[in-house]
Amino acid sequence: MNNSAIGVYDSGFGGLSVWGELYRALPDESLTYLGDGKNCPYGGRTREQITGFAREAVRRLVDEGCKMIVVACNTATAAAVDTLRREWPQLPVVGLEPAIKPACMESVTRKVGVLATAHSLQGDMFHRTAARYASDVEVYTAVGEGFVELVEAGAEHTPQAEEAVRRVVEPLLERGVDRIVLGCTHYPFLRPLIELTAAGRGVGIIDSGEAVARRVGYLLDELSLRAEAGHKAEYRFLTFADESYRMRLQRKAFACAGR
Ligand code: DGL
Repeated sequence: MNNSAIGVYDSGFGGLSVWGELYRALPDESLTYLGDGKNCPYGGRTREQITGFAREAVRRLVDEGCKMIVVACNTATAAAVDTLRREWPQLPVVGLEPAIKPACMESVTRKVGVLATAHSLQGDMFHRTAARYASDVEVYTAVGEGFVELVEAGAEHTPQAEEAVRRVVEPLLERGVDRIVLGCTHYPFLRPLIELTAAGRGVGIIDSGEAVARRVGYLLDELSLRAEAGHKAEYRFLTFADESYRMRLQRKAFACAGR
């Protein structure tokens, strides 16, 4: 048993889509969320830069006493998860990978779209996963241009967001994909618009949030790190940006949780 918090880290607001799944699946667990904010977006940065940000974030969460880290950011996972595991060998670190496997298993047209940041799509991890599960499936990738900025600005319900989503998703639909994988944790906040764009075309949208929450639950048991049943969970929010950003993180998280 261990009542310490699970640390959840992202470049900004995106990881709150994972936070929401952890909140629902693991109600006894305290969660300490760190949304960098200062260096966001990560998507166009180098591996070295992202690794530096991730290292600083994990150091902060470890200083706060976190028992496990969820890197709730596909980009930071692709760039830095191996380094983090090497530098904190005792610390369980869970990363985010695009849900290519379920998409390939479910696809009838054998054409799958993957939306992610430029950095994630260039990474070895993406290519390894695609090679493993998508040998008989055509995988079409696209960077969600502008998506992260829209979510960071809280502008996911605007005509600009609708236009940005249409511009990215329509070409995938024209290719005949019947599954679209959301390979960036900011993108689930645009899911209603992605669904609207794909409406009536028989397309399923898949993200990794629920699968990650299940993996975290499994690891907590395996490592005997679960909080006591009935433990009163605490939810904290940290950032490298300013207090108003921190408050926005907290408000958005509680809105996700329906609190
Ligand atoms: N939320 C992020 C991801 O999952 C990164 C977005 C960004 O900062 O570019 O990839």
